[in-house]
Amino acid sequence: MKITIFGTGYVGLVTGTCLADVGHDVLCMDVDADKIARLEGGEIPIFEPGLESMVKDNVEAGRLRFTTDPAEAVAFGTLQFIAVGTPPDEDGSADLTYVLAVAETIGKHMADYKVIVDKSTVPVGTADRVRETVAGALQARGAAIDFDVCSNPEFLKEGAAIEDFTHGARIIVGTESERVKTLMRECYAPYIRLHDKLMFMDVRAAELTKYAANAMLATKISFMNEIANLAERLGADVEQVRRGIGSDPRIGYQFIYPGCGYGGSCFPKDVQALARTASDVDYQAELLTAVEGVNRRQKQTLFTKLAGAFEGQFAGRTIALWGLAFKPNTDDMRDAPSRTLMEALWQAGAKVQAYDPEAMKECRRLYGERDDLLLAGDRIQAVKGADALVICTEWKEFRTLDFAWLKQQLATGVIVDGRNLFEPEAVKAAGLRYFAVGRGESL
Ligand code: UGA
Repeated sequence: MKITIFGTGYVGLVTGTCLADVGHDVLCMDVDADKIARLEGGEIPIFEPGLESMVKDNVEAGRLRFTTDPAEAVAFGTLQFIAVGTPPDEDGSADLTYVLAVAETIGKHMADYKVIVDKSTVPVGTADRVRETVAGALQARGAAIDFDVCSNPEFLKEGAAIEDFTHGARIIVGTESERVKTLMRECYAPYIRLHDKLMFMDVRAAELTKYAANAMLATKISFMNEIANLAERLGADVEQVRRGIGSDPRIGYQFIYPGCGYGGSCFPKDVQALARTASDVDYQAELLTAVEGVNRRQKQTLFTKLAGAFEGQFAGRTIALWGLAFKPNTDDMRDAPSRTLMEALWQAGAKVQAYDPEAMKECRRLYGERDDLLLAGDRIQAVKGADALVICTEWKEFRTLDFAWLKQQLATGVIVDGRNLFEPEAVKAAGLRYFAVGRGESL
């Protein structure tokens, strides 16, 4: 099957590569010529385990190609996936400029029937706007060509995107057209051979499903963070509470890990966008607003704990920071709790010595060279000469720690653990002060 993907960002590149890998002919289009040139040379612009070799293999096999030519891209696939960015507007709603620009391009160049597939995370009602835009572009050139628009949201987690694409829980397609159903079934046939997880539904239901799924997961996290904050004040250990409630299958163990707040390109943006959509239809989404508010506060918790331990005195202090990415196995620092912390520390006059297994380049790109930021070569170097250690991301390599050694390194012996990696008793036994989330020492 011939497939065109607009956008070679995270979602577009993973989708295009995985579809090529099961034998489809895929052409990925991007307006960024530099990016396309690098992709053609097998260099991928993001860190995603397994993706680089998969891109290389499929480029070599001739199934995956790249272009900057919109006319070529539109002519190529019967399926035209839109996987471009939808950054948040100032008011939190999703900016559809790029999505609608692709729709315009398709309408301008198409010469035969196309199915336009909304893959980007877009607000409910976007399929209608895409349809109107394509129809408008066709009308402007006096063309009458049949086309359909469907919604096919993605459920990829960064760091596990290939696994999620190939073994996801479901494939959702919002359409009422039998023709589209047949084509989308053909597209995903290799993935539904053993277990038919293709779910057809109304376009608006599909669009809302994407937001509802992310909002539900974000709600679980904020709920658990609220319980952790309470546990801390009540002298209970939240990790025991987590195991206690997770054992109820109605609640489950997933996404109830308390921490220093959710980050990334999805949860913060999608919860806000859904709240914005609600207010557009005169509905006050109280719960979504609270989920967002709890998370904003939670991202400050690491600084608050440090401030408590240092009695608000940060001048002349050096803080070691382990983990910059918003979660392990990615170099993505969008909305990462580490950023809230670093910015607050700098504001207060402290220095940061940071280490992350993958996000060092990204950190340099975001903050440049500055006197109050040392990017350390490894986790050991980050701790050298520091007053305290803060853990922001639960990378595997941070999970073991020689507490006696650490006690000798840290001037104040303070560890603030935003991911609850250690047993408080073991840390305390080494003479360290351990502040975690909903356990350990409380202020
Ligand atoms: C999320 C969803 O999990 C995907 O299903 C969805 O497709 C994707 O958004 C998207 O909309 O594109 P992602 O943002 O990559 O994926 O990362 P998650 O693994 O979901 O983690 C999000 C944040 O929640 C991280 O900062 C993580 O540390 C935090 N988290 C997660 C917790 O604080 N506690 C938990 O129990 C789980």
